[in-house]
Amino acid sequence: MTAFERVALAALPTPLEPMDRLAEWLGGPRLLVKRDDQTGLALGGNKARKLEYLCAEALAGGCDVLVTGGGRQSNHARMTAAAANRLGLDCHLVIDGFEPVTMTGNLLLDKVLGATLHFTRTVSSYYELEAIIEETGARLAAEGRRPFTIPVGGATLEGAVAYVHAADEFLGQLGDERVDWVVVADGSGGTHAGLLAGLGSRAAVIGIDVGTRPDLETFIARLAAEASATTVRSESPGEVIVDHDRIGDGYARISKTGLEAIHETARLEGIVLDPVYTGKAMAGLFGWVREGRIAPSDTAVFWHTGGAVALFAKDYAEVLSADDATPDALARRRARLRVSRWSKLRLRGSSWLRQRRSRSR
Ligand SMILES: Cc1ncc(COP(=O)(O)O)c(C=O)c1O
Repeated sequence: MTAFERVALAALPTPLEPMDRLAEWLGGPRLLVKRDDQTGLALGGNKARKLEYLCAEALAGGCDVLVTGGGRQSNHARMTAAAANRLGLDCHLVIDGFEPVTMTGNLLLDKVLGATLHFTRTVSSYYELEAIIEETGARLAAEGRRPFTIPVGGATLEGAVAYVHAADEFLGQLGDERVDWVVVADGSGGTHAGLLAGLGSRAAVIGIDVGTRPDLETFIARLAAEASATTVRSESPGEVIVDHDRIGDGYARISKTGLEAIHETARLEGIVLDPVYTGKAMAGLFGWVREGRIAPSDTAVFWHTGGAVALFAKDYAEVLSADDATPDALARRRARLRVSRWSKLRLRGSSWLRQRRSRSR
């Protein structure tokens, strides 16, 4: 039961599949993957489920333009642009930082999907970005538009309710089978909150912090309680477990363990992860198994939230296309590129000087 309307945007239910080869490589436990990377809506991801509820609210309020934002490789921004197109709405996206010369990955799709992009031209904090999204909405309203603003990552009660229903879908697929752990990437925390409320005592949820927001624990606890009350669950949400140890050098910075997770999951299961969210989440799962916190006799589900579009972003493509794909290798390659650009400039400079000298003789 839910208090919210829904508009169909996602291809549901998403598959629940075994990952036997990865489980064997890790030395147990039993591993399953919930394929929310297969939701559809401009290449899929967890935001499709959230947008079904957010867009229903937007339509009910007579909105004519969706406004949201995120980093350059925001999957949420890309999928909001796609949802707007499906529903005949305009879309304005606030993108953190400067406009790049060439758009790649999610940003390229934002452009292809025809969203209006506003670059902040500064590096903004999580809350600064939220404030700019609100300001953009207010400006559009002052121009006579009817904007519906969506916070970063779609982290609203509607978004969490979408994941309470996703948990029901998953429990239906599971039947009587036992699951001990569900592992998911924590960006804004909304997906985790919905799963906690929906799963209750059926499985513990481990959120792997990817470094987006500073107040994950309190936010998730509050949102899970609200989502549980809104959907009138018979059980209280489970304990909030957040692992902060897999962030590496920061949000959207590729990590060594994330790279290992991307490579092994692709090579053993043919499943594509991304460097920002799911690579780090899978690295968290590997870590919990290696540290003995997930036992070989347990069953763990990796909740795949999508994000592979970011692999096609220039910076990540550079790392992943190298034979020795590591962050250190990238740093070395960048240094080589800087040197070779500098020597080209010096060569150009000296031939220009030679020409000037020969002309003046
Ligand atoms: C691919 C992917 N995975 C996970 C997340 C995190 O989801 P949430 O914001 O609900 O924590 C995001 C959010 O931006 C995402 O794009």
